[in-house]
Amino acid sequence: MKIAFVGKGGSGKTTLSSLFIRHLAAAGAPVVAVDADINQHLGAALGLDEAEAAALPAMGDQLPLIKDYLRGSNPRIASAATMIKTTPPGEGSRLLRVRGDNPVYDACARPVELDGGTVRLMVTGPFTEADLGVACYHSKTGAVELCLNHLVDGRDEYVVVDMTAGSDSFASGMFTRFDITFLVAEPTRKGVSVYRQYKEYARDYGVRLAVVGNKVQGQDDLDYLREQVGDDLLVTVGHSDWVRAMEKGRPPRFDLLEDANRRALHALRTAADATYDERDWERYTRQMVHFHLKNARSWGNERTGADLAAQVDPDFVLGESVVANA
Ligand SMILES: Nc1ncnc2c1ncn2[C@@H]1O[C@H](COP(=O)(O)OP(=O)(O)OP(=O)(O)O)[C@@H](O)[C@H]1O
Ligand SMILES: [Mg+2]
Repeated sequence: MKIAFVGKGGSGKTTLSSLFIRHLAAAGAPVVAVDADINQHLGAALGLDEAEAAALPAMGDQLPLIKDYLRGSNPRIASAATMIKTTPPGEGSRLLRVRGDNPVYDACARPVELDGGTVRLMVTGPFTEADLGVACYHSKTGAVELCLNHLVDGRDEYVVVDMTAGSDSFASGMFTRFDITFLVAEPTRKGVSVYRQYKEYARDYGVRLAVVGNKVQGQDDLDYLREQVGDDLLVTVGHSDWVRAMEKGRPPRFDLLEDANRRALHALRTAADATYDERDWERYTRQMVHFHLKNARSWGNERTGADLAAQVDPDFVLGESVVANA
């Protein structure tokens, strides 16, 4: 299951992603955690100290390797240099799974031990000015997008992405790559306005969006969120002393997390799992092609000097059956 946490800066994306990742790990589920947020804090929220977090390899630096591996023997992709962040897989491409090893994980992922299990952590690396543009060839999130577009995940396997709801993800189509998107919103006008904007983009693409209220302190906060986002409000999280202790570098055992917050995490997993039966790999593939053609026209063809529309394999549909037959 591919799951994104998005929201306004400071809303609690990283905190809630990290709690959700801990929750999944404690239940023994395989997890690939991805930090694609502008402020790279997921490692720290998962308990890494500064030196450990700083030693994580940046996916952005591994783009040539990622492209070369994923391209495989796909005859439509002449070289890694002509592969852009939206280039879709086709016959001959190599696909990633959540479990097992591959050169991309070898280069980009590091194990992080949590209570109850070990997860894989991948980070985009620090963003620069250029990464925040819409049409960037070397964009940091491009590495994440390529991985998502080549990843076949099954039930009870999780990819959790802590990310920014920026123009980059809307232009590249990254926001359509998830089974469910948890929009973290504080009960404030700004928190809710990010939700409205996301909802606007999401509508045309059938993106499943659920609001997670954070730092919700009482009935008035709850009423406000209900009134503003209606049925999209899935669950709310209050102030957590557990999180505070973790921020001080003294994370208590995960089973000491407050009951209400544990129930909220359970609700997130239930909501994510429920999307499995409604998965539509054809639509997933179609949307990836749609955004690829759009990016090819707007900057990719010019940038690479190639006709990137030719990279699309019209008969290819990503899905669990592709790997089963491989
Ligand atoms: N439920 C909570 N209880 C206690 N503290 C919280 C809670 N949620 C978030 N925080 C705190 O609020 C601050 C911002 O949270 P966090 O870093 O998760 O937000 P973010 O959306 O990822 O921010 P950024 O945009 O900077 O990446 C952190 O110090 C975090 O510990
Ligand atoms: Mg963050």
